[in-house]
Amino acid sequence: MLHVNTTEWFDLEVIINGRHIRASIPTHLRLLDFLRENLRLTGAKEVCGEGECGACTVLLDGKAVNSCLILAAECHGATILTVEGLQSAAGMDDLQEAFIRDHAVQCGYCIPGMILSAEELLTHTPHPDREQIRHALAGNICRCTGYQKVVDAVENSAKKR
Ligand code: FES
Repeated sequence: MLHVNTTEWFDLEVIINGRHIRASIPTHLRLLDFLRENLRLTGAKEVCGEGECGACTVLLDGKAVNSCLILAAECHGATILTVEGLQSAAGMDDLQEAFIRDHAVQCGYCIPGMILSAEELLTHTPHPDREQIRHALAGNICRCTGYQKVVDAVENSAKKR
């Protein structure tokens, strides 16, 4: 039997969590798979794989995106922040601490995406009201917290910034 490898490759350069990354990747590789499988950055999760749940949210040039819907090759030259990039040598960032302090985390699966959507919100709207917080997190679905404590955590984090 004749085996033909039809994979096309792309030379990707991207900055992820402050690190300059170069990689030769298949052109069809999703950003989510590049992060999780190639870089072992497993904060972004796959749930629906269709852009509906927000569990795979990362910041692409500061904008919250569903990494399951984006090809890694599309990110050439871009800057990406995953939840792992929020953590500094000093520890967790204020949003992460607020989510824990305000009991906004249960199973935790959706939380990395929630935190990154909240991070985008607070960057552009430092003092959001609760409606603005709910709107910013509308693309992040959670099955266990009921959202109230998530909104509390973002609101309290904003007050402290
Ligand atoms: Fe990407 Fe659900 S896994 S939006």
